[in-house]
Amino acid sequence: MPTIIDGKKISTDIKAEIKSQVDGMKANGQRAPHLAIIIVGDDGASHTYVNGKINACKAVGFDYTLLQFAATISEEKLLKHVEQLNADEDIDGFIVQLPLPDHISVDKVTDAIIPEKDVDGFANENFGSIVSDNQLLMPATPYGIMELLKRYDIDTEGKHAVIVGASRLVGAPLSMMLSHDGRATVTTCQKYTVDLAKHTKEADILVVAVGKPGLISADMVKEGAVVIDVGTTRVADDTRKSGYRLSGDVEFEEVSKKVSHITPVPGGVGPMTIASLMINTLRAAKAKL
Ligand code: GUN
Repeated sequence: MPTIIDGKKISTDIKAEIKSQVDGMKANGQRAPHLAIIIVGDDGASHTYVNGKINACKAVGFDYTLLQFAATISEEKLLKHVEQLNADEDIDGFIVQLPLPDHISVDKVTDAIIPEKDVDGFANENFGSIVSDNQLLMPATPYGIMELLKRYDIDTEGKHAVIVGASRLVGAPLSMMLSHDGRATVTTCQKYTVDLAKHTKEADILVVAVGKPGLISADMVKEGAVVIDVGTTRVADDTRKSGYRLSGDVEFEEVSKKVSHITPVPGGVGPMTIASLMINTLRAAKAKL
C-alpha cells in the first residue's frame, strides 16, 4: 500500500507552528502580520482559492484585507492599487490572484509588486533567491512541495526527479529547488514531450503540473516511485452538489497501486500552497521588524 501524502495535515501542522509565532509577536506588543489579497472578476475557482487563503489567515491570527474588483477594471487602475499596497506600511505582503482578465498583463502586474511584499514568490528577485544563501520569499507552490518531501522524509539527493510542466509558477522554480537544495538530478518535460513515458518511467520522484486530467497512467510510472500531482482541474460531475469535482493529472487509482508515495487531489499539494503563503507572509512581516 502506498503512503498517501496528506498535504492537509502537514498544512494544518505548519499553520499551528505559525500561529504560535504570531501569538508570541502579539504577546511582545507587535502587531499581527497583515496579508492583502486582490481578486479581479468572478471566476469561481479563484474565489474558492481566495476563501481558503482568508480562512488560513484567520487560523494563524493574521490580519487580512480583501480587495475585489470587477473584471472590467483597467490595467492602469489595477497597477495603481498595486502601487498603493507597495507603499502601505500596514501591509506586510500581498498577492494578486490569477488568472487575470485577458486585457491585463500578468507579467506587468506581478512585476509591479515589490519583492519584499511578493508573498507568492513570483517576482524575478524571489525566483533568483532559490539559489541564494539569503532566501526570503520562496515561490509558494514549489516551496510547499519541497516541504512535503522533507516532512515525509523523502530523500531527494542523487535521485532522478522528473517534472512534467515548466511553468513560471511551479515547474520552472521547482526544477531549480530540486537540483539546488534537493541535490537531485532533474529532467523537465512538457505535456507534448516526444515519448513522455520514456522520461516519466525513469523518475524516482515524478511531479506533474500541467492541468491535463488523466495524463499520467500506471504504465508511465516506475514501481516504487514518489508521485506528486499538482494538477487541479474542475471536471463536470453530476453526482456532486457543486456539479464538479477536482481532478489531478495522474490516474490516482491505478498509479497508487505501484508507487511508494502519492499525493491526492484535492488534499495534497493545494493546501501546501496556502501554508507557504502563510510562511512567506510571516517572513515578510519579521523582515520588516
Ligand atoms: N492562481 C492559481 N494558483 C495561484 C497562486 O498560487 N497564486 C496566485 N496569486 N494565483 C494563483
